[in-house]
Amino acid sequence: MPFLYIDAHEFVSIQYMTRKTIAVIFGTRPDTIKLAPVMHALQRESARFRVVKIATAQHRGMLDQVLDVFKIKPDYDLNIMQRKQALSALTAKTLQALGNVLDEVQPDMVLVQGDTTTTFVGSLAAFYKQIPIGHVEAGLRTNDKLHPFPEEMNRRLTSSLADLHFAPTETAKKALIHEGINRSSVFITGNTVIDALRLSVRKNFRFSLPDLNDVVKEWKKIVLVTMHRRENWGAPMLGACRTIRRLAEVHNDISFVFPVHLNPAVQEVVGATLKGLQNVHLVEPLNYLDFVNLMAKSYFIITDSGGIQEEAPALGKPVLVLRTVTERPEAVTFGTVRLVGLDEEKIIREGTRLLNNKAAYQKMATAVNPYGDGKAAQRTIAILKNYFGFTKSVVREFRPPTARS
Ligand code: UD1
Ligand code: UDP
Repeated sequence: MPFLYIDAHEFVSIQYMTRKTIAVIFGTRPDTIKLAPVMHALQRESARFRVVKIATAQHRGMLDQVLDVFKIKPDYDLNIMQRKQALSALTAKTLQALGNVLDEVQPDMVLVQGDTTTTFVGSLAAFYKQIPIGHVEAGLRTNDKLHPFPEEMNRRLTSSLADLHFAPTETAKKALIHEGINRSSVFITGNTVIDALRLSVRKNFRFSLPDLNDVVKEWKKIVLVTMHRRENWGAPMLGACRTIRRLAEVHNDISFVFPVHLNPAVQEVVGATLKGLQNVHLVEPLNYLDFVNLMAKSYFIITDSGGIQEEAPALGKPVLVLRTVTERPEAVTFGTVRLVGLDEEKIIREGTRLLNNKAAYQKMATAVNPYGDGKAAQRTIAILKNYFGFTKSVVREFRPPTARS
């Protein structure tokens, strides 16, 4: 076979000719946290990939906190957020704005993450321009279209549009294949949230919010609480907050720290029910580093969050989930996460059990990590390199543990 002689300059320009442009679309706190490791890993592959970071800013303050922690500077910031935004207006505005940006950027692929409106609309905007779509954290399902709302449908609709599906677990991969997605397009990567967590939890961490250093020093135990789910707005959330108040009144030697989501629907209910107790600390949303390090120092967690159900088990922290169904069943199976729903007596019973019964606590507090090994972003990039023909490597899928450690 004849040799093809090219000089170094030409070689570089050929390399850059084949460089692929990846538009990464994000906009809320969780999708940005989980895409941060992917964006950083893509940037390290700058000979092959040009990364264009597009923030819808579906969230504003809570997005900026994440951008700041992970030192991400968006190339486009659509500044979409409005106070008390409705889903239809948010969807329409985001779709139009993303369409314009994609026309300008002309990417070879769009990457989206998870289940937010930004995720679904980002994939729809890409589909309208016939741009291939990669979905990070694909395949999570409750199979109940109203729980969580609208996230279950955001995920299912995104799966129908996506070309590459980065499933965090085997359960997620099976769900996608069961729905008829071509198995050759589905890869188990683990969840990138574990990549982010591993880089962020430190032993002698000093909180940037000084009050937290005092809380950790002064209280013998901390229960960390978060709540924001749309389907819990109104009476269910009010009931859950009243229940947490009852729990805090009985256990007045324990600190309940509640970083309150900026959504006015959450702020109003939480402020009205939980203010005024000396052991309940209502704080602004914490920056990611403060939050995960507080999680590491807490005794257990009460939440309706998706991401926290993945992070807490990795830290060996029991979680009571204020939902009746979850698209993250793995840690429930392992026993670190328990679904208590919005049933007031169940929340009290399970919360009291964790506080008073050491054996019951220990049974839940075993560190398990069904969600990742810290290499999810690395696998995602390896799969992208294969997809674009840069490499033909065998990418070994993430294998979760089969039993509690
Ligand atoms: C959104 C996602 C949800 C995700 C959650 C993570 C959708 C439909 N919902 O819910 O899947 O679990 O983010 O937190 O995609 N607000 C601020 N500042 C902020 C963020 C929000 O003031 O930084 C207020 C605004 O008034 C905004 C409202 O919260 O209109 C709702 O924000 P939105 O993104 O629509 O819904 P979330 O409940 O935050
Ligand atoms: N988080 C944070 N600060 C907070 C509360 C949560 O940084 O005050 C992080 C948390 O560690 C997790 C993510 O936000 O990675 C979860 O986001 P959220 O609960 O808003 O959304 P969900 O995961 O339910 O979609």
